[in-house]
Amino acid sequence: MSAEIIDGKLVAAEIRAELAKEVAQLKADSGLVPGLAVVLVGEDPASKSYVSAKEKACAEIGVYSDDNRLPADTSEAELLALIERLNRDDKIHGILVQLPLPKHINENAVINAICPDKDVDGFHPVNVGRMLIGEKAFLPCTPHGVLQLLMRKNVPIAGAEVVIVGRSNIVGKPLANIMMQKSDMGNATVTVCHTRSKDLAAHTRRADIVVAAAGRPNTITADMVRPGCVVIDVGVNRIEDPSAKRGYRLVGDVDYEAVKEKASLITPVPGGVGPMTITMLLHNTVQAAKTKKYSLENLSSLRMKKP
Ligand code: GUN
Repeated sequence: MSAEIIDGKLVAAEIRAELAKEVAQLKADSGLVPGLAVVLVGEDPASKSYVSAKEKACAEIGVYSDDNRLPADTSEAELLALIERLNRDDKIHGILVQLPLPKHINENAVINAICPDKDVDGFHPVNVGRMLIGEKAFLPCTPHGVLQLLMRKNVPIAGAEVVIVGRSNIVGKPLANIMMQKSDMGNATVTVCHTRSKDLAAHTRRADIVVAAAGRPNTITADMVRPGCVVIDVGVNRIEDPSAKRGYRLVGDVDYEAVKEKASLITPVPGGVGPMTITMLLHNTVQAAKTKKYSLENLSSLRMKKP
Protein backbone atom coordinates (compact mmCIF):
# COMPACT_ATOMS: atom_id res chain seq x y z
CA MET A 1 0.00 0.00 0.00
CA SER A 2 1.20 3.49 -0.80
CA ALA A 3 2.14 5.77 2.09
CA GLU A 4 0.25 8.85 3.21
CA ILE A 5 2.27 11.86 2.05
CA ILE A 6 2.96 14.36 4.82
CA ASP A 7 2.22 17.78 3.37
CA GLY A 8 4.79 20.01 5.06
CA LYS A 9 3.45 23.08 3.30
CA LEU A 10 0.01 22.53 4.79
CA VAL A 11 1.29 21.95 8.35
CA ALA A 12 3.62 24.94 7.99
CA ALA A 13 0.71 27.12 6.81
CA GLU A 14 -1.33 26.11 9.90
CA ILE A 15 1.51 27.08 12.25
CA ARG A 16 2.25 30.31 10.33
CA ALA A 17 -1.42 31.33 10.67
CA GLU A 18 -1.13 30.77 14.45
CA LEU A 19 2.08 32.83 14.51
CA ALA A 20 0.53 35.67 12.46
CA LYS A 21 -2.19 35.97 15.13
CA GLU A 22 0.44 36.00 17.89
CA VAL A 23 2.40 38.74 16.09
CA ALA A 24 -0.75 40.85 15.62
CA GLN A 25 -1.61 40.43 19.32
CA LEU A 26 1.89 41.40 20.39
CA LYS A 27 1.68 44.56 18.24
CA ALA A 28 -1.76 45.44 19.59
CA ASP A 29 -0.74 44.84 23.22
CA SER A 30 2.61 46.56 23.27
CA GLY A 31 3.54 47.90 19.84
CA LEU A 32 6.33 45.34 19.70
CA VAL A 33 7.23 44.06 16.22
CA PRO A 34 9.43 40.94 16.25
CA GLY A 35 12.57 41.56 14.18
CA LEU A 36 14.88 39.05 12.48
CA ALA A 37 18.28 39.98 11.05
CA VAL A 38 19.29 37.69 8.20
CA VAL A 39 22.97 37.62 7.27
CA LEU A 40 24.26 36.06 4.06
CA VAL A 41 27.94 36.10 3.09
CA GLY A 42 28.71 35.29 -0.54
CA GLU A 43 26.75 34.11 -3.54
CA ASP A 44 25.99 30.43 -2.93
CA PRO A 45 22.80 29.91 -5.00
CA ALA A 46 21.13 27.50 -2.52
CA SER A 47 21.87 29.82 0.42
CA LYS A 48 20.54 32.80 -1.53
CA SER A 49 17.27 31.05 -2.20
CA TYR A 50 16.92 29.92 1.47
CA VAL A 51 17.57 33.45 2.70
CA SER A 52 15.02 34.94 0.29
CA ALA A 53 12.44 32.38 1.41
CA LYS A 54 13.10 33.25 5.07
CA GLU A 55 12.65 36.97 4.42
CA LYS A 56 9.46 36.41 2.45
CA ALA A 57 8.06 34.23 5.26
CA CYS A 58 8.79 37.00 7.80
CA ALA A 59 6.88 39.55 5.72
CA GLU A 60 3.90 37.21 5.41
CA ILE A 61 3.33 37.01 9.17
CA GLY A 62 4.26 40.60 10.05
CA VAL A 63 7.81 40.00 11.33
CA TYR A 64 10.32 42.74 10.45
CA SER A 65 13.32 41.38 8.57
CA ASP A 66 16.65 43.14 8.25
CA ASP A 67 18.50 41.95 5.14
CA ASN A 68 22.34 41.88 5.38
CA ARG A 69 24.02 40.58 2.22
CA LEU A 70 27.78 40.75 2.30
CA PRO A 71 30.35 39.98 -0.42
CA ALA A 72 32.20 36.63 -0.36
CA ASP A 73 35.48 38.35 0.58
CA THR A 74 34.04 39.88 3.77
CA SER A 75 36.57 39.37 6.58
CA GLU A 76 35.76 37.54 9.80
CA ALA A 77 36.36 40.79 11.71
CA GLU A 78 33.82 42.65 9.55
CA LEU A 79 31.23 39.94 10.08
CA LEU A 80 31.85 39.91 13.84
CA ALA A 81 31.44 43.69 13.91
CA LEU A 82 28.07 43.40 12.16
CA ILE A 83 26.94 40.76 14.67
CA GLU A 84 28.01 43.00 17.54
CA ARG A 85 25.89 45.82 16.10
CA LEU A 86 22.89 43.49 15.66
CA ASN A 87 23.32 42.17 19.23
CA ARG A 88 22.87 45.77 20.45
CA ASP A 89 19.99 46.68 18.12
CA ASP A 90 16.68 46.74 20.04
CA LYS A 91 14.61 46.26 16.87
CA ILE A 92 16.32 42.90 16.29
CA HIS A 93 15.19 39.94 18.40
CA GLY A 94 16.71 37.16 16.31
CA ILE A 95 19.93 36.86 14.29
CA LEU A 96 20.41 34.26 11.59
CA VAL A 97 23.74 33.83 9.85
CA GLN A 98 23.20 31.53 6.89
CA LEU A 99 25.62 28.58 6.86
CA PRO A 100 27.92 27.46 5.36
CA LEU A 101 30.19 30.52 5.54
CA PRO A 102 33.14 31.04 3.15
CA LYS A 103 36.17 28.93 4.13
CA HIS A 104 38.24 31.88 5.46
CA ILE A 105 35.66 32.58 8.20
CA ASN A 106 35.58 30.49 11.37
CA GLU A 107 31.96 29.39 11.69
CA ASN A 108 32.21 28.62 15.42
CA ALA A 109 33.64 32.07 16.17
CA VAL A 110 30.67 33.64 14.38
CA ILE A 111 28.08 31.46 16.12
CA ASN A 112 29.70 32.16 19.49
CA ALA A 113 29.47 35.92 18.85
CA ILE A 114 25.68 35.88 18.57
CA CYS A 115 23.96 36.80 21.82
CA PRO A 116 22.35 33.51 23.02
CA ASP A 117 19.02 35.33 23.60
CA LYS A 118 18.98 36.27 19.89
CA ASP A 119 20.24 32.89 18.65
CA VAL A 120 17.03 31.83 16.89
CA ASP A 121 18.92 29.08 15.03
CA GLY A 122 19.69 27.42 18.37
CA PHE A 123 23.34 26.93 17.35
CA HIS A 124 25.10 28.85 20.16
CA PRO A 125 26.82 26.53 22.67
CA VAL A 126 24.68 28.03 25.46
CA ASN A 127 21.49 26.99 23.69
CA VAL A 128 22.94 23.62 22.68
CA GLY A 129 23.94 23.01 26.31
CA ARG A 130 20.56 24.09 27.66
CA MET A 131 18.82 21.82 25.17
CA LEU A 132 21.08 18.90 26.10
CA ILE A 133 20.13 19.06 29.77
CA GLY A 134 16.45 19.73 29.04
CA GLU A 135 16.40 23.42 30.01
CA LYS A 136 14.49 26.14 28.17
CA ALA A 137 16.37 26.85 24.94
CA PHE A 138 15.82 27.83 21.33
CA LEU A 139 15.55 24.52 19.52
CA PRO A 140 17.31 24.26 16.13
CA CYS A 141 14.72 24.81 13.42
CA THR A 142 15.01 21.65 11.31
CA PRO A 143 14.83 19.16 14.22
CA HIS A 144 12.00 21.18 15.76
CA GLY A 145 10.18 21.14 12.40
CA VAL A 146 10.60 17.37 12.08
CA LEU A 147 9.14 16.91 15.56
CA GLN A 148 6.18 19.17 14.84
CA LEU A 149 5.42 17.16 11.70
CA LEU A 150 5.51 13.89 13.66
CA MET A 151 3.40 15.25 16.51
CA ARG A 152 0.83 16.92 14.28
CA LYS A 153 0.48 13.66 12.34
CA ASN A 154 0.01 11.80 15.65
CA VAL A 155 3.04 9.57 15.10
CA PRO A 156 3.88 7.95 18.45
CA ILE A 157 7.37 9.03 19.53
CA ALA A 158 7.51 7.63 23.07
CA GLY A 159 8.95 4.11 22.93
CA ALA A 160 9.53 4.28 19.17
CA GLU A 161 12.70 2.93 17.56
CA VAL A 162 14.11 5.98 15.77
CA VAL A 163 17.05 5.70 13.40
CA ILE A 164 18.64 8.97 12.32
CA VAL A 165 21.06 8.80 9.39
CA GLY A 166 23.43 11.77 9.69
CA ARG A 167 25.24 13.32 12.64
CA SER A 168 25.47 17.03 11.74
CA ASN A 169 25.34 19.77 14.37
CA ILE A 170 22.31 21.23 12.57
CA VAL A 171 20.12 18.13 12.29
CA GLY A 172 21.33 14.69 13.42
CA LYS A 173 22.90 15.50 16.79
CA PRO A 174 20.19 17.85 18.11
CA LEU A 175 17.31 15.71 16.80
CA ALA A 176 18.75 12.61 18.48
CA ASN A 177 19.10 14.53 21.70
CA ILE A 178 15.57 15.92 21.74
CA MET A 179 13.98 12.58 20.81
CA MET A 180 15.76 10.70 23.60
CA GLN A 181 14.80 13.19 26.32
CA LYS A 182 12.15 12.60 28.93
CA SER A 183 9.57 14.95 27.37
CA ASP A 184 6.49 14.92 25.17
CA MET A 185 8.79 15.20 22.13
CA GLY A 186 10.99 12.40 23.36
CA ASN A 187 11.16 9.07 25.18
CA ALA A 188 12.22 7.35 21.93
CA THR A 189 15.02 4.83 21.59
CA VAL A 190 17.40 6.61 19.23
CA THR A 191 20.19 5.25 17.04
CA VAL A 192 22.40 7.66 15.10
CA CYS A 193 24.06 6.23 11.97
CA HIS A 194 26.70 7.88 9.80
CA THR A 195 29.25 7.29 7.06
CA ARG A 196 31.28 4.92 9.26
CA SER A 197 28.31 2.82 10.39
CA LYS A 198 28.98 -0.83 9.52
CA ASP A 199 25.61 -2.08 8.32
CA LEU A 200 23.28 0.87 7.80
CA ALA A 201 20.40 -1.26 6.49
CA ALA A 202 20.46 -3.50 9.58
CA HIS A 203 19.71 -0.40 11.65
CA THR A 204 17.15 1.26 9.39
CA ARG A 205 15.19 -2.01 8.97
CA ARG A 206 14.44 -2.07 12.71
CA ALA A 207 13.15 1.49 12.78
CA ASP A 208 9.61 2.69 13.39
CA ILE A 209 10.80 6.14 12.30
CA VAL A 210 13.69 6.70 9.86
CA VAL A 211 15.08 10.22 9.54
CA ALA A 212 17.36 10.68 6.54
CA ALA A 213 19.75 13.61 7.00
CA ALA A 214 22.89 12.44 5.22
CA GLY A 215 22.97 14.94 2.35
CA ARG A 216 23.22 12.24 -0.34
CA PRO A 217 20.52 11.07 -2.77
CA ASN A 218 19.31 7.46 -2.49
CA THR A 219 20.86 6.93 0.95
CA ILE A 220 17.63 5.17 1.95
CA THR A 221 16.25 2.64 -0.53
CA ALA A 222 13.13 0.47 -0.27
CA ASP A 223 15.02 -2.66 0.85
CA MET A 224 16.33 -0.68 3.86
CA VAL A 225 12.97 0.06 5.51
CA ARG A 226 10.38 -2.16 7.11
CA PRO A 227 6.79 -2.09 5.87
CA GLY A 228 4.68 0.50 7.69
CA CYS A 229 7.53 2.65 8.97
CA VAL A 230 7.49 6.47 8.97
CA VAL A 231 10.12 8.12 6.77
CA ILE A 232 11.22 11.72 7.20
CA ASP A 233 13.51 13.05 4.49
CA VAL A 234 15.61 16.03 5.53
CA GLY A 235 17.88 15.92 2.48
CA VAL A 236 17.87 18.67 -0.13
CA ASN A 237 20.10 17.75 -3.09
CA ARG A 238 20.29 19.51 -6.44
CA ILE A 239 20.36 17.05 -9.34
CA GLU A 240 21.18 18.25 -12.86
CA ASP A 241 18.12 17.99 -15.07
CA PRO A 242 18.28 19.65 -18.51
CA SER A 243 14.50 19.23 -18.88
CA ALA A 244 13.85 21.37 -15.76
CA LYS A 245 13.43 25.14 -16.17
CA ARG A 246 16.38 25.94 -13.88
CA GLY A 247 18.53 23.08 -15.19
CA TYR A 248 18.25 21.14 -11.93
CA ARG A 249 15.67 19.56 -9.67
CA LEU A 250 15.60 18.92 -5.95
CA VAL A 251 15.63 15.44 -4.47
CA GLY A 252 15.95 14.23 -0.90
CA ASP A 253 18.09 11.47 0.59
CA VAL A 254 15.36 8.86 0.14
CA ASP A 255 14.47 6.89 -2.99
CA TYR A 256 11.02 8.44 -2.68
CA GLU A 257 9.06 6.59 -5.39
CA ALA A 258 10.08 3.13 -4.15
CA VAL A 259 10.08 3.84 -0.40
CA LYS A 260 6.60 5.41 -0.46
CA GLU A 261 5.22 2.01 -1.55
CA LYS A 262 6.47 0.49 1.71
CA ALA A 263 6.18 3.23 4.32
CA SER A 264 2.98 4.29 6.12
CA LEU A 265 3.89 7.99 6.15
CA ILE A 266 6.56 9.83 4.17
CA THR A 267 7.69 13.42 3.54
CA PRO A 268 8.32 14.56 -0.04
CA VAL A 269 11.19 16.78 -1.21
CA PRO A 270 10.42 19.57 -1.81
CA GLY A 271 7.33 20.30 0.29
CA GLY A 272 8.09 18.20 3.37
CA VAL A 273 10.56 19.28 6.03
CA GLY A 274 11.75 22.44 4.17
CA PRO A 275 8.72 24.65 4.85
CA MET A 276 8.76 23.52 8.51
CA THR A 277 12.37 24.67 9.02
CA ILE A 278 11.47 28.22 8.05
CA THR A 279 8.31 28.08 10.13
CA MET A 280 10.20 27.11 13.28
CA LEU A 281 12.61 29.98 12.62
CA LEU A 282 9.60 32.32 12.65
CA HIS A 283 8.39 30.63 15.84
CA ASN A 284 11.76 31.16 17.54
CA THR A 285 11.85 34.81 16.42
CA VAL A 286 8.40 35.48 17.88
CA GLN A 287 9.44 33.72 21.12
CA ALA A 288 12.63 35.81 21.22
CA ALA A 289 10.57 39.02 20.98
CA LYS A 290 8.24 37.76 23.71
CA THR A 291 11.20 36.78 25.89
CA LYS A 292 12.34 40.38 25.72
CA LYS A 293 8.89 41.62 26.69
CA TYR A 294 8.10 39.13 29.46
CA SER A 295 11.56 37.88 30.56
CA LEU A 296 12.64 34.28 30.18
CA GLU A 297 11.27 33.13 33.54
CA ASN A 298 7.73 34.17 32.66
CA LEU A 299 7.60 32.30 29.39
CA SER A 300 6.13 28.85 29.86
CA SER A 301 8.34 27.39 27.15
CA LEU A 302 10.44 28.41 24.19
CA ARG A 303 9.24 25.52 22.14
CA MET A 304 5.83 24.97 20.63
CA LYS A 305 3.16 23.36 22.75
CA LYS A 306 2.11 19.84 21.83
CA PRO A 307 -0.78 20.45 19.39
N1 GUN B 1 22.23 26.14 6.52
C1 GUN B 1 21.52 24.99 6.38
N2 GUN B 1 20.55 24.92 7.32
C2 GUN B 1 20.65 26.04 8.07
C3 GUN B 1 19.90 26.53 9.18
O1 GUN B 1 18.97 25.91 9.71
N3 GUN B 1 20.33 27.74 9.66
C4 GUN B 1 21.37 28.42 9.13
N4 GUN B 1 21.70 29.58 9.69
N5 GUN B 1 22.07 27.98 8.10
C5 GUN B 1 21.71 26.80 7.58
